Amino acid sequence: MSLLIRNGEVVTVDSRGTADIYVANETITRIGKNLEAPANTEIIDATGQLVFPGFIDPHVHIYLPFMATFAKDTHETASIAALVGGTTTYIEMCCPNRNDDALEGYQLWKSKAEGRSACDYAFHMSVTKFAEETESQLKQIVADGTASFKIFLAYKNFFGVDDGEMYQTLELAKRLGVIVTAHCENAELVARLQQRLLLEGRTGPEWHEPSRPESVEAEGTGRFATFLENTGATGYVVHLSCEKALHAALSAKSRGVRLSVESVLPHFLLDKSYAERPGVEGMKHVMSPPLRAKHNQDVLWNALSIGAVDTVGTDHCPFDMEQKLLGKDSFVNIPNGIPGIEDRVNLLYTHGVKRGRLSLDRFVDAASTRAAKLFGLFPRKGTIAVGSDADLVVFDTKYLGKVSVKSQKTNNDYNGFEGMEVEGRPSVVTVRGKVQARDGAFIGELGRGRLLKREPTHF
Ligand code: URP
Ligand code: ZN
Ligand code: ZN
Repeated sequence: MSLLIRNGEVVTVDSRGTADIYVANETITRIGKNLEAPANTEIIDATGQLVFPGFIDPHVHIYLPFMATFAKDTHETASIAALVGGTTTYIEMCCPNRNDDALEGYQLWKSKAEGRSACDYAFHMSVTKFAEETESQLKQIVADGTASFKIFLAYKNFFGVDDGEMYQTLELAKRLGVIVTAHCENAELVARLQQRLLLEGRTGPEWHEPSRPESVEAEGTGRFATFLENTGATGYVVHLSCEKALHAALSAKSRGVRLSVESVLPHFLLDKSYAERPGVEGMKHVMSPPLRAKHNQDVLWNALSIGAVDTVGTDHCPFDMEQKLLGKDSFVNIPNGIPGIEDRVNLLYTHGVKRGRLSLDRFVDAASTRAAKLFGLFPRKGTIAVGSDADLVVFDTKYLGKVSVKSQKTNNDYNGFEGMEVEGRPSVVTVRGKVQARDGAFIGELGRGRLLKREPTHF
């Protein structure tokens, strides 16, 4: 089956202009003006609309046993939510905990996705301990095409690794040419501050942020960078939330440390006052690192606009209100996480591009291309070029709407961005040449998604 997208304004990081895109056998085979197509070709008229490369969310949680419960999405629901929002590839955190076997965990995470996702996907493999068998297991996982690791400096005794384990992971990653992503908060300080606040009777969701202050994240970011510096490995800070942590990351970059920075949608648009709302309203907005004081948002937008923040992910992690209420007596038991996979592209376009905070090329770069380059997917994904997978987003810039739990596809009973304005959304979304979503509706095929095998590139 072939597809012709006619007369759209095709936008990539380094080019912009009106063109037709012809797709055969899942890949882009021609880009040009007035392209001819065989009689049975599906034709989409994109006149007056933008055409973007499929967007990539580099940080999502779908199957996640965490904080005495499980995140709500399945690969069916998450991929539908992703696609209606223009995301055609996501990278899920594979997160067995410290007591689990890493290889068994990897197989389990794969089995949860296989044959279910409607869009393509990959994994970051979490290293949650470094035991005798870890090196050989990680080598097998990399040989299987999963060429990025994840470490947590937070979540002591569960996902968290100590400094020795971080060193061993980075040293191995350097030898294998694998990039290491990291959640950077000082686990010991978080545990001590939580304990102190609880002893003082401070139990509500508004105390989550003070238990993990900006300095705790800055320390984690700086320490991760120092370990990169001394192992020569390549790193990627996930969900960086604040100015202090950004300074730590940029200071490392300026020393030549091979480090990239991701911030996630909630930190650009929500501040800590959301988590200070009473009861479950506040709990809905508990995530880690926490939502911060508002001034940090301008810092993140500015850093994003110049590429000092490299990518925008979501840290998509849906827990419903009943699950959030597990923490009604103590903020330390509120499952951490906010969903966002469905809203990232539209909200970033609206509050970034439309509000003049982000150029169109940086928007494409931050939401697609740079993740493809960092995680070994480029130029198969992340651009519109002959030979690339035909993951395409025809984008209607005239659409006006609002984020609402009532219309969302994400499997959750609230939306953390409820009521926010949306100015522009995908009208057509393709996965390897097949139309999977139209105008906010999923019209595609579940199970179309493939696990993307990736080669190490960070030697
Ligand atoms: O609050 C968060 N971020 N939940 C998901 C787990 C993680 O730390 O990424
Ligand atoms: Zn995290
Ligand atoms: Zn995460």
